[in-house]
Amino acid sequence: MKVSSLLLLAVLEAGGVSAFPAHLSEAFLHLRGSSEAQAQARGISDCPFAKRQAAGVIPPFDAEQQYVSNTGKHAFVAPSATDLRGPCPGLNAMANHGYLPHNGVGTIDDFISGTMAAFGMGVDLATFLAIYGAVFDGDLTSYSIGGPAPSLLGLGGLLGEPTGLSGSHNKYEGDTSPVHGDLYQYGNNKPQVPQFAALYELGQKNGDSVDLNVLTQFRATRFQQSVSENPYFFLAPFSGVVVTPAAYTFIYRFMANKTAENPMGVLNGETLKSFYAITGDYPNFTVTPGHERFPDNWYKRNALDYYTIPYLVEDALAMQLQHPEFLSVGGNTGKVNSFVGVDPANLTEGVYNAPSLLKGNNAFCFGTELILQMAPSLLSGIYDDVTEALDTLTSAVTNATKGLSCPQLTSIDKSQLGQFPGYTKLRSNGGY
Ligand code: HEM
Ligand SMILES: *[C@@H]1O[C@H](CO)[C@@H](O)[C@H](O)[C@H]1NC(C)=O
Ligand SMILES: *[C@@H]1O[C@H](CO)[C@@H](O)[C@H](O)[C@H]1NC(C)=O
Ligand SMILES: *[C@@H]1O[C@H](CO)[C@@H](O)[C@H](O)[C@H]1NC(C)=O
Ligand SMILES: *[C@@H]1O[C@H](CO)[C@@H](O)[C@H](O)[C@H]1NC(C)=O
Repeated sequence: MKVSSLLLLAVLEAGGVSAFPAHLSEAFLHLRGSSEAQAQARGISDCPFAKRQAAGVIPPFDAEQQYVSNTGKHAFVAPSATDLRGPCPGLNAMANHGYLPHNGVGTIDDFISGTMAAFGMGVDLATFLAIYGAVFDGDLTSYSIGGPAPSLLGLGGLLGEPTGLSGSHNKYEGDTSPVHGDLYQYGNNKPQVPQFAALYELGQKNGDSVDLNVLTQFRATRFQQSVSENPYFFLAPFSGVVVTPAAYTFIYRFMANKTAENPMGVLNGETLKSFYAITGDYPNFTVTPGHERFPDNWYKRNALDYYTIPYLVEDALAMQLQHPEFLSVGGNTGKVNSFVGVDPANLTEGVYNAPSLLKGNNAFCFGTELILQMAPSLLSGIYDDVTEALDTLTSAVTNATKGLSCPQLTSIDKSQLGQFPGYTKLRSNGGY
């Protein structure tokens, strides 16, 4: 334990925190080597990602319970031209293997039962993610994991066709994803082979194991790539602060193969390729978007160790302590390398500030509270009457943050977001 906490402190002192680029938010720069950051580091009393093992919390392994079938009714069936697939490799694989409807359109219950059966997602997290999708990208009941679903047209008092997850830029889907390219950089939201290859390579250098340390390092590289390559890079309050960390931690926490020897799981390059629809041998990879697969003989999380909201919050915080820039809300201002981070105190009228975001559950609280404040204007572009959508979202956020002691926002100041074209482009499309 001692060694690990010293390690984290050493990282903070020797460059982990101080290494982030000078053009990031002043608010976060003040944290560089600060007493707050160091106190936080000491607060996490062991290597963050190994916290549970260090505390002796090794999940059980039960082969029969954890085996995920990919044969019979769960055999892989490639999507047809009318089946919808989108930015989430987990959901795409589920639809290809009959853990979600094959057409790619599911109800809230389909998403909850499917993510538990196929991956072992905690019911709290599954419910929150499922409802969020139905509110922003569907008809309040169902939604598509890809583009618009003709079957959902005209239901639920919708003003137009629901976008599905693929059309949810900066509401659900966001920039600086692990393998999918930034929307305004690539003009689409497709997996990028060079991004996949970079992650694969890091895993190979780590003994053919993609773990959370590898993913943290990869995320820092992807963040810097978006800053230096995407003039419209924008980290939105919810998709940037809540969804992006999940996109990284899910890779290890869900895709890793759990075994008796390694009940937490090991994620090797071949399994990563299967879940990301990559074929060919390194470095000659090919991607077939939509063809994500469960590998043969693969084991999910144990039922006593489902991946819950508190578990995700703990993993996300461990990443953020190493790279406080991950907590930025902001973006480039129309040119590459022009990143400006908004001071969270400005955005929240003082309820949150940069140091407080690095404590406990606050980052998750901040992201979810902000989306609630932004929801009335976002939803008014989707529903003719926002009441039911807003009530559902409020209830989902209340449930998801129960027990997290979140500081409550009553209003926010969005004025500083106007400087980011990644934000205003969305607004002119009927977003924010
Ligand atoms: C109801 C459940 C879920 C919903 C609504 C959902 C939705 C999404 C969305 C909107 C994105 C795009 C985010 C971005 O721009 O980075 C995404 C990405 C991702 N999701 Fe899911 N997801 C769910 C469950 C899962 C599960 C069970 C897995 C298990 C492997 C998973 C793994 C991932 C990964 C790894 C990414 C990042 C993709 C990349 O590399 O670019 N998700 N998901
Ligand atoms: C990758 O493909 C190129 C061109 O087809 C080939 O020359 C090279 O040998 C391949 N590399 C590997 C490692 O298979
Ligand atoms: C998962 O681990 C088990 C036990 O070690 C092994 O037999 C199986 O081949 C592994 N599956 C994958 C997809 O690596
Ligand atoms: C942001 O906060 C700083 C420091 O509290 C203050 O000086 C500045 O006026 C605020 N900016 C806006 C736009 O509210
Ligand atoms: C929130 O939890 C309450 C109590 O368990 C439940 O009745 C309600 O349906 C939940 N709301 C949502 C949106 O899941």
